[in-house]
Amino acid sequence: MRAVVTTGNGDVRVMKVETRPDPVPASGEVLIRVKAAGLNFADILARQGLYPDGPPKPCVMGYEVSGIIEAVGAGVDASIIGEPVIAMTRFGGQAELVVVPDAQVFEKPAQLSFEQGAALPVNYLTAWALIVTMGGLKQDEAILIHNAGGGVGLAALDIARYLGARTFGTASPGKHEFLRQRGLDHPIDYRNQDWLPILMELTNGRGVELIIDPLGGKNWKQSFRALRPTGRMGVFGISEASASGIKGKLKALKAIIGMPRFNPIGLMNRNKGIFGLNLGHMWGEGEKVASWTREIMIGVHKGWVRPHVDRTFSFAEIADAHRYLEGRKNTGKVVLVP
Ligand SMILES: NC(=O)c1ccc[n+]([C@@H]2O[C@H](COP(=O)([O-])OP(=O)(O)OC[C@H]3O[C@@H](n4cnc5c(N)ncnc54)[C@H](OP(=O)(O)O)[C@@H]3O)[C@@H](O)[C@H]2O)c1
Repeated sequence: MRAVVTTGNGDVRVMKVETRPDPVPASGEVLIRVKAAGLNFADILARQGLYPDGPPKPCVMGYEVSGIIEAVGAGVDASIIGEPVIAMTRFGGQAELVVVPDAQVFEKPAQLSFEQGAALPVNYLTAWALIVTMGGLKQDEAILIHNAGGGVGLAALDIARYLGARTFGTASPGKHEFLRQRGLDHPIDYRNQDWLPILMELTNGRGVELIIDPLGGKNWKQSFRALRPTGRMGVFGISEASASGIKGKLKALKAIIGMPRFNPIGLMNRNKGIFGLNLGHMWGEGEKVASWTREIMIGVHKGWVRPHVDRTFSFAEIADAHRYLEGRKNTGKVVLVP
């Protein structure tokens, strides 16, 4: 099979398409012929050497696929062979074939294309965990979605709108019109101006009840300030550190130095909460993740879950796909096809 291999740490030139032996499903596993694989910001950070959760290099990244079941291992019902599915993959998804434990496989809703199917798991599960499970967002509350035009950002917008909350979102200005069309109440340009005073003005100085922040560094200090009493802040990434080579290491260091240090007494006296999420550390909680997936699939059928694929790149165009995401050009999801 052909697979997209991250051969080492560095710029996009370390990305290669290589031929590898076809995987064989073991007991309890299924073999999927991949039609589309999601590209995530984690893949960029892994290539840059800034993603400690990634497998040792050379490696095939890929947390999510859609495709067709080609074979099953012992103990798995063979009648599912030929079925279109969506699956969460603990790496290896950016390949023509991947094996996955059958518990991580879900039927692909017919109304979604394979590309949309591959855009679903990471973005929507992350947003669901942040907003519903941990953030507890309610109808009469307001949310600030940082990086609202990204993959997780658009999923978060769908979920916040479904809950009936008032939505604020930071994004590059070129993405604002699209975000308004998707239903974002207040897009804020965070690239050319300080977003905090604008948010405070828009909320009559009150701030918001929930902020989801994947930027990290000193942005977390600003986000904490923007919380209204009873507000919660979910941290789930450090995009600010993104860069290759020594520049990346320095930016990561700067992000760590710029991070706030929270004190429980301070949280108590301010009536604010902080929580963190790493979906990649939820593999031991399959039942929880499966229950979130079922809710998201209901949303697909009802029409409020709308995975938006911005661009599709072939495996051979992997360097362009990484450049596109790293260069902040994407609005929504970038998907790879074999
Ligand atoms: N902890 C978890 O479980 C988890 C799961 C999924 C994703 N994440 C994190 O969530 C964030 C978004 O992930 P995603 O996969 O949905 O990607 P994405 O948002 O689609 O990624 C690209 C976008 O990020 C924004 N961005 C902000 N700072 C950036 C920087 N320094 N360099 C490049 N782009 C930057 C840009 O949009 P603008 O136009 O807004 O600048 C860009 O278009 C990432 O930090 C990722 O690591 C965490």
